Amino acid sequence: MDDVTKNAYGRPWWATAVFYQVYPRSFADGNGDGTGDLIGLRQRLDHLDRLGVDAMWISPFYRSPMADGGYDVSDPCDVDPLFGTLADFDALLADAHQRGIKVTVDLVPNHFSDQHPWFVAALAAGPGSPERARFIFRAGRGPDGSQPPNNWPSVFGGPAWTRVPDGEWYLHLFAPEQPDLDWTNPEVPAEFERILRFWLDRGVDGFRIDVAHGMAKEPGLPDVDLSVIPSREEGATMPSPDDIRWDRDQVHEYHRMFRRVLDSYPGDRMAVGEAWVANSERLARYVRPGELNLTFNFELVEANWGAKTFREAIERSLRAMSGVGAPCTWVLANHDVERAATRYGGGAVGVARSRAAALVQLSLPGAAYVYNGDELGLTNVELPDWALQDPTWERSRHTERGRDGERVPLPWSGDEPPFGFSTAPATWLPMPAEWAAVTVEKQESDPGSTLRLYRRALALRASTPDLLEPEFAWLELPTGCLGYRRGEISVLLNAGEAPLPLPAGEVLLASGPLDGQTLPIDTAVWLRG
Ligand code: NOJ
Repeated sequence: MDDVTKNAYGRPWWATAVFYQVYPRSFADGNGDGTGDLIGLRQRLDHLDRLGVDAMWISPFYRSPMADGGYDVSDPCDVDPLFGTLADFDALLADAHQRGIKVTVDLVPNHFSDQHPWFVAALAAGPGSPERARFIFRAGRGPDGSQPPNNWPSVFGGPAWTRVPDGEWYLHLFAPEQPDLDWTNPEVPAEFERILRFWLDRGVDGFRIDVAHGMAKEPGLPDVDLSVIPSREEGATMPSPDDIRWDRDQVHEYHRMFRRVLDSYPGDRMAVGEAWVANSERLARYVRPGELNLTFNFELVEANWGAKTFREAIERSLRAMSGVGAPCTWVLANHDVERAATRYGGGAVGVARSRAAALVQLSLPGAAYVYNGDELGLTNVELPDWALQDPTWERSRHTERGRDGERVPLPWSGDEPPFGFSTAPATWLPMPAEWAAVTVEKQESDPGSTLRLYRRALALRASTPDLLEPEFAWLELPTGCLGYRRGEISVLLNAGEAPLPLPAGEVLLASGPLDGQTLPIDTAVWLRG
């Protein structure tokens, strides 16, 4: 029997896997309430199967008051009724495994929900109690303690501290409904070991570690130099190395614990870190031997469209990861950032570029994550104010719209909303009428569709040893173009302003129509020979 834990070349499966990120509220609604769920996901497993992904990462479906789309977890070992039951999860896992698709889930170790029993008990127990010592409670500053303990801002806007009625303050790097845990308290790692084992015992293949760069706090919680935090309008996501809220060295001890637990199970179970850190060298520290298996390389998310920006992003990532012997983990989008087609300019141009970028992403050495809907070439949706649900909208006092635009439910079939996503007419975020043109059903029957492009790319990737081996060499091309060789395969991207003559070779796949023997702008190609 094949060893399902290794890829075709004897490496652990995750080292070259294509993971598909399911944002469960938005993938498919199986119970007709307008919100996606595990039942809907199970019903639509065919889509993942036909797409040809190796694994899925399911964003949180745990019990949650949904103050931050499920990243505010009130019971990490149960399924929220919005998404189904544990039995639904087990059935999904079994079906996915039967199809050879691995299942990875989110672990949210930086914070719990304020409705988690630990936090409820902490509030009830009062200052100085062991219950409070699981979180980060402090006295305020100023004569009457009415000022927050330090000047840290929260990621969603406003201060990172909230005061409770007895006068103490608690830290929340995200929303007030997400109190940060104190990982120096041994009860916290012990609880997360229990949570990991709970899901590993059920059979999950791995975890995506939320805020992997934030769990350790600078001792003494000193003020941060606010001048190093870019204004939110600048939109930068890589923090400055001087932003002491993140990437403290102590965090690596916690990741080593995760790895020890994973390695105590058979089958190459894995963890991928979500670490937004200052640069690729800092990022590589998360995947040193004995730490996490993978960590998202967000360099391509950060790179503006262009051959030079892409090349620099790829070079930095490859260099840093090879220094620690870990594969790169390529990402074009997720539920926190604008969809690639929108970032690259939107409209037909944005979609053409996102298709070309996908052929780059999927031909680079290492693992890749595809965000649900990218395989349809979806763009962000401009939602009306009344529809917005991301806590950023309220916390920023309606100055930032937040991340709902990239979270709109997927269009499956038919000519009008909800496009087969749900049987309910109203979905948790409204779906645009124009998506009639990009449903899975429409794209199935169009050989030029983005869906068919992704399927072909994944099939070729899986059957082309050169794309799964680590060899990589740059090709020198005219300005505006990017190229590299992977063994016998050449990958060319034209992000310039003039068509590029194609070298000799068999065209395996192109992201758009080719113009005779030239590669048009905003197009990428895979060639053999
Ligand atoms: C990162 C998650 O991807 C994001 O959606 C969430 O808001 C924060 N972590 C806080 O958990």
